[in-house]
Amino acid sequence: MSTVNSQAQNNSPVVIELAGVKKRFGRQMVLRGVDLVVHEGRTLVIVGASGTGKSVIIKHMLGLINPSRGTVKVFGRDLQRLNRRELNEVRSSFGVLFQNAALFDSMNVYDNVALPLRERTRQSKEEIHGKVMGKLELMGLEKSVDKFPAQLSGGMRKRVGLARALVLDPKVVFFDEPTTGLDVHKSNELYRLFYRTQQQLGYTAVIVSHDVPKIFKLADEVALLADGQVQGCMPPEDFQMSEQPMIRAFVEETMGHLYLSDEEEADFYA
Ligand SMILES: Nc1ncnc2c1ncn2[C@@H]1O[C@H](COP(=O)(O)OP(=O)(O)OP(=O)(O)O)[C@@H](O)[C@H]1O
Ligand SMILES: [Mg+2]
Repeated sequence: MSTVNSQAQNNSPVVIELAGVKKRFGRQMVLRGVDLVVHEGRTLVIVGASGTGKSVIIKHMLGLINPSRGTVKVFGRDLQRLNRRELNEVRSSFGVLFQNAALFDSMNVYDNVALPLRERTRQSKEEIHGKVMGKLELMGLEKSVDKFPAQLSGGMRKRVGLARALVLDPKVVFFDEPTTGLDVHKSNELYRLFYRTQQQLGYTAVIVSHDVPKIFKLADEVALLADGQVQGCMPPEDFQMSEQPMIRAFVEETMGHLYLSDEEEADFYA
C-alpha cells in the first residue's frame, strides 16, 4: 500500500520505528497495532481526531510510556530494553515542544533556554552563552533575554519554547500541537521558523497538529491515526488525493470545501 510506496521512495536511514504497537489503559484500547517509520531529516505529521492517541504515540517515542504489545525503536534501539541511563542518552538527542510550551515563570528567557544545557551538559558559562544567544537570535528574541514569560506575547512564548527545544541541537524534535492558542498569523510565523531552523539544523521532526492543510506544507509525510491504527502514511499530495475511505473522510471533513466544484460550492454556501 501507500505506506510501502513512500518507504520505498525514501532511502534515508530510519530514526524511529513503531512496530505492532498496542496500548491499553485499563479497559480502553487506544492503540491497536500501530506501524510507523520516521526517516532521518524528514518531517512526519500525525493527524487524526481528538482522543485517537496521537499524543500517546509521541509519548511512546519519547519512552515516557511503554507499549502493551509491540516495539518502539529509536536509532535502532528498543526503548523498552534500555536502562535509565541509556534512555536518558537517547533522550538527550531529542527536543520537545508541547502545547503549553511549559516555560518556567520564575526564570527569564535566557535561563529558560539555558536550562537543558545546564541540566544535561557540563559546558562552561561561555559555551552556554554562545549556544543560548545563537538560538535566541534564530528566533528573533535576542532583545528579550531579560524578560519573564508573563511579559511575553503568546507567540514569543512559543518561540522561547522552540529555542529551548533546539538548544541541545537535537537530532529529533517532537512538536505536539505547538501552535495551540495562537492566531493564524502567529502560527504561520511559528511554522516558518520550524521550516527555517530545520533547513539549518537538519533535524528529524514528528509533529502532531490540527492545522490542516497548513501543516501539509511542512510535511514530508502525513499519517492519519484512526481506530487505533495508522490508516496510511504518505506524502501530503498523495494524502489529499487518497482513495482510502478513512483518509478521504478526514480530508473532506478538514478541508473539504477546498475541493468542492463550483456547483457543489454553491450548494455548500446556500
Ligand atoms: N496516561 C493515561 N492513562 C489513561 N488514559 C490515557 C492516558 N493517556 C491517554 N489516555 C487516553 O488515551 C486516549 C488518547 O489520548 P491522546 O492524548 O493520545 O489523544 P490525542 O489524539 O492526542 O487527542 P488530542 O487531539 O485531543 O490531543 C484518550 O482517550 C485518553 O483519555
Ligand atoms: Mg494530543
